[in-house]
Order: sequence, then structure tokens, then C-alpha cells
Amino acid sequence: MQQIRNIVILTGAGVSAESGIDTFRGGGGLWEQHRVEDVATPEAFARDPDLVLRFYDMRRAAIQEKQPNAAHTALARLEAEWPGNLLLVTQNVDDLHERGGSRRVLHMHGEHLNAWCTSCDIRSRWTGPLIDRPACPICAAPTLRPDVVWFGEMPYRMGEIYAALREADLFVSIGTSGAVYPAAGFVQNARELGAQTLELNLERSQGSHWFHESRLGPATEVVPAWVDEMLGGA
Ligand code: APR
Repeated sequence: MQQIRNIVILTGAGVSAESGIDTFRGGGGLWEQHRVEDVATPEAFARDPDLVLRFYDMRRAAIQEKQPNAAHTALARLEAEWPGNLLLVTQNVDDLHERGGSRRVLHMHGEHLNAWCTSCDIRSRWTGPLIDRPACPICAAPTLRPDVVWFGEMPYRMGEIYAALREADLFVSIGTSGAVYPAAGFVQNARELGAQTLELNLERSQGSHWFHESRLGPATEVVPAWVDEMLGGA
């Protein structure tokens, strides 16, 4: 195995599944008979803002009752003890990586606990509901929306992610189905740029064929075992 110094990790809903946060394409994937794809879009927000705001109010409240799991805390330990560079990119909009101890988390699909004002364009920390159109803490306009990247919108900080992939010696994908781009394409970028690629997932994903190695099992088992291996069994 080549010398590994720079690691890029991508996580998806599977890393939070054992904390009790539903994945998107697992069992249910429905909310009040609406597919998430039908609610998480700018068109849905324009068509029925109350429906979309209620959906995100429910998800924002739900994640605050959940706790990080052993996969989150193992990744935080790796970040604290790894001698090289480590960038944790997550597609998740919960804050379980942060509450599990990770300090540098790149939320490419936004965050439930932020609200984005479409008048002043400022994002503010937000833990309550948005359905009653509260005033933006900065400009006081009643124009706060969820700070979540919807289908058709550009994910955040892509330049930073591609720069990290160019330097990566190891790319690790954890708990994601490989169903949604651009995240699903990161493994191909990394591999073509010479990185080792590892998948830790409950089951084979749509991108499994791109990985040098796949280890299947629940994140709370396979992630801590991998972190122990990376830190020399410490
Ligand atoms: N441990 C590890 N992996 C798990 C676990 C678990 N306990 N439970 C489920 N998984 C895996 C599933 O096998 C699946 O491959 O996690 C993956 C979850 O896939 P999705 O539900 O598609 O979630 P994700 O890949 O994060 O979706 C990507 O799609 O809807 C959009 O923006 C949304 O960020 C999301 C994106």
C-alpha cells in the first residue's frame, strides 16, 4: 500500500442511520406520502412553501433528539490523531459529525441547523421552526428558507472538495448509495488521480465497482475497526 498522508472521507445518510435518522433510499424514504425528491426542490418550495417548510421543520426538530454513534466518534478520533491532512465531506445535513467531535466538516448539501435569508443572503444558525416566517436575525425580512441544497441547486464548496481530491492518497466513502452526483463521482475522480479508494457501507452501492476495496457492514462496526487500523490499532 502506498504511503498514505492525505485522506478525503465522504459520508452519507448511512453513517447516521444507527443514530435513528432515516436514510433516503432505504425502507421508507417517504414523508406524508411525498417522496423526498418531490419536496427537496426549488419548484416544490415555490409551489407549496408551507409543505416544504413543515417537512424541514420536522427534520430539523428530529435531528436535535438524535445522538452521534460510534462511527461519528471514530471519525472524530481519526481527525484528532491522524498526522496527515484529513477532510471530512458529508452529504448529510444533520450535525452528528460535529456533536461526535469532528471539528472540520464540509457540508456539501447544507445544514438543517442553518437558515438562509433570501433577502440578505446571510445564513444564520437556526434550531426552531420556519413555518411562521420568523424575521431574519440580520435584515428582519420574513424570508428565511432551509439552508439545504435542493435537487437542481449547486452543492457547496465544490472547488475545495476537488482540490482535496487532487491531493488525496486515500478516498473513503461511508454510508452512501452513490445515487446522487456530484458526490457519487468523487470516487472516480480520486481513483483516476491515483488515490486508493475504500468503501465502508451496509451493502454494495451503485459505485462499488470504482473502489479498490469494499467492506460491508453497519457503520458503527466497520468504521471504528477501520479507524483502529489506520491509527495502528491504538
Ligand atoms: N451503516 C452503513 N451504511 C448504511 C447503514 C448503516 N447502518 N444503513 C444504510 N446504509 C447505507 C445504505 O446501504 C445506502 O447505500 O447508506 C446508504 C444510504 O443511501 P441513501 O439513502 O441514498 O443516502 P445518501 O447516499 O446519503 O443520499 C445522497 O441524496 O436525497 C439526496 O441530498 C440527499 O444527501 C442525500 C443524497
